[in-house]
Amino acid sequence: MTPLPPELLPLTAEVGPDGRLLVGGCDVVDLASEHGTPLFVYDEAHLRARCRETVDAFGDGATYAAKAFLCRAMAALVHEEGMGLDVASGGELHVALAAGVPAERLVLHGNNKSEEELARALAVGVGRIVVDSHDELDRIEALVAAGAPAPRVLVRVTPGVEAHTHVYVMTGQADSKFGFGLASGAAAEAVARAQASSAVEVVGIHAHIGSNIFLLASFAQAVEVLADFVVPLGLPELVLGGGLGVAYVEGEAAPTISEWAAVLSKACAEAGITARLAVEPGRAITAAAALTLYTVGTVKDVAGLRTYVSVDGGMSDNPRPVLYGSGYEAFLPRATTAERPRQVRVVGKHCESGDVVVHQARLPADLAVGDILATPVTGAYGHSMASTYNKVPRPAVVFVVDGQARLVVRRESFDDLLRLDT
Ligand SMILES: Cc1ncc(COP(=O)(O)O)c(C=O)c1O
Repeated sequence: MTPLPPELLPLTAEVGPDGRLLVGGCDVVDLASEHGTPLFVYDEAHLRARCRETVDAFGDGATYAAKAFLCRAMAALVHEEGMGLDVASGGELHVALAAGVPAERLVLHGNNKSEEELARALAVGVGRIVVDSHDELDRIEALVAAGAPAPRVLVRVTPGVEAHTHVYVMTGQADSKFGFGLASGAAAEAVARAQASSAVEVVGIHAHIGSNIFLLASFAQAVEVLADFVVPLGLPELVLGGGLGVAYVEGEAAPTISEWAAVLSKACAEAGITARLAVEPGRAITAAAALTLYTVGTVKDVAGLRTYVSVDGGMSDNPRPVLYGSGYEAFLPRATTAERPRQVRVVGKHCESGDVVVHQARLPADLAVGDILATPVTGAYGHSMASTYNKVPRPAVVFVVDGQARLVVRRESFDDLLRLDT
């Protein structure tokens, strides 16, 4: 029966006297009428607050993992708030540069950076490249030999720590496509090679153990494991990746960025690590800042089994339920605090039975076709993982603040779907 837990809503969420939800001073049902659905609504104040919290804790080492959500407005906001950006492809690099983020504030990631991606990164002068393989070092050496400037690099290591998270987003274990293994000696060899090369300047070590991690002890354990390797090297920087979890559903509680920072700093101090600490949170910055608005199109009762509530999006705007079995809450922003006695499955409009938005949703009893249905905590890995499956155009994105909504990504049109056909 329980209403939506208010802590899952963005920072500036308020409920009007009529029960309608306002975010950033904007009535979200009105936003749906104005901009159509599905629609991502980001609370700009929430984004800025999370960026500031990270900068307060890590200073220059605060870096936003752009993969969580990226468009020019987001890159510009993050930069304005003093964070650097971690970009994981030539495309993310392109968007960040197009937003006016200075190249030296960018960190280039990727386990298979192409020669073209590396060439552009070197040409524009990205701040750091996180070296992931010997093949990548070969490519950088060839580019520098051909006249490109030598980059500052971090060497990515896999500490052999298995974070308590979904296996698809675990990255710190030895059996990983990312980085150089610590236990096997591969990491030591890679650092030695890079330090001996005049094509790169090794400034630090990088490790990222996974994503959506709730247990701060996993991070502390990674620091402990890394310390024996990092301390003797005496390099000036240590990047501990992103991965801080967020609460998606009732009953979940995640540590704050400040709590995460305190545990990391303490673990580093205890381990004798004096390198400047940096982190790359993505989800913890953006996830809870946004909600997705859908329109309910059909309500189908399968007698004795369940009710299917179909909305006008689905796995194309939020593939996380399909990819990881992720859970979400659902509610009606016209009745934000209403009891939710009706148990339903919220599904998308795609031609897949697996196209589920919320497996076990609770919604108000008077749910009806035409209602605007919202899923909170969709600001990370939703729009950024969106597709045009079934040629469903990707949703628009608005940023709301002080009663104003700013369209930052327009809705894709049917003509956009033809744009790349030759
Ligand atoms: C290297 C690296 N840094 C940072 C992140 C961001 O992770 P999160 O969004 O969980 O904070 C990721 C995500 O997979 C990553 O691979």
